[in-house]
Amino acid sequence: MRNPTVLASGFLGVNVEMLKRVVEEGAGAVTFKSIGPRVKSGHRNPTVLAYEWGMINAVGLPSSGYKDMEGELARMKELKAPVFVSIYGASVEEFCDVAEAVAGYKPAVIELNVSCPNTKAEGMVFGCSEKLTAEVVSAVKNVTGKVPVMPKLTPQALNIAGVAKACEEAGADAIAAINTVGPGMLINIEARKPVLDYKRGGISGPAIRPIAVRCVYEIYEAVDLPILGMGGVTEGRDAVEMMQAGASAVGIGSGVYYRGIEVFNRVCEEMKVWMSENGYKNVKELVGAAHE
Ligand SMILES: Cc1cc2nc3c(=O)[nH]c(=O)nc-3n(C[C@H](O)[C@H](O)[C@H](O)COP(=O)(O)O)c2cc1C
Repeated sequence: MRNPTVLASGFLGVNVEMLKRVVEEGAGAVTFKSIGPRVKSGHRNPTVLAYEWGMINAVGLPSSGYKDMEGELARMKELKAPVFVSIYGASVEEFCDVAEAVAGYKPAVIELNVSCPNTKAEGMVFGCSEKLTAEVVSAVKNVTGKVPVMPKLTPQALNIAGVAKACEEAGADAIAAINTVGPGMLINIEARKPVLDYKRGGISGPAIRPIAVRCVYEIYEAVDLPILGMGGVTEGRDAVEMMQAGASAVGIGSGVYYRGIEVFNRVCEEMKVWMSENGYKNVKELVGAAHE
């Protein structure tokens, strides 16, 4: 990667043309929106809302399914930056079906969105259980050959570091953290009803940054894998903080809403200024610096 910023899954990443723009605007790597096993419509609008300190969303993982995405996946080589492909499934078998198909296109990384419920485990969210997450990781590793696998953990887990450790033991190549926090709810008091049609939604943006930093800090102490840290990174200083907590690279999602698509170049410039003012020569020196 030419710099440590990564477009997070779910923002602009539905086709190669959009991802090209994000690369042109400076992202060091880009992530496709999560791809599932089949066509799935999302929740009804309103699905996303920005409030004072963050965003709340219940998009509901809409996907055209991996078969319909093959045209886009085949074009990922056109992108002049590493491409991460995020996938999800409602069972270990579904994760494997999608992973095997996606691995054929040789993305830089397959990211596992384990923030979705396992229909075969009474709807328990994979990422809340060390056992369920490890099962997905080891099964997916068996079908992806040399393509690295990176589970993206949820702060809904009681012990996110324990889940990360279980992933490492199951063969994960890297850890991404965190997905949205919550679920939360906001009510339109004049209309006397929740603002989202789905009522509950995940929280992202500046409001969750302290939770994301704490999660990355704990994961760094538990595993020896590279960490992609995300949650509320909007400015260069936030990226420095996330890296000092232990991230080797930082995801930016809601920051695209707050600062526009230019956010990647701007965060990199701000990091450079901060680093030169504070005597750092290489971003690698930042990684885990808050643990020393
Ligand atoms: C509208 C929206 C859609 C998202 N879609 C996905 C998704 O498809 N897959 C996924 O793993 N995470 C998804 N996320 C979570 C983000 O990738 C990211 O983990 C989270 O928003 C925290 O980062 P941020 O504060 O920089 O946005 C989505 C978030 C939002 C707000």
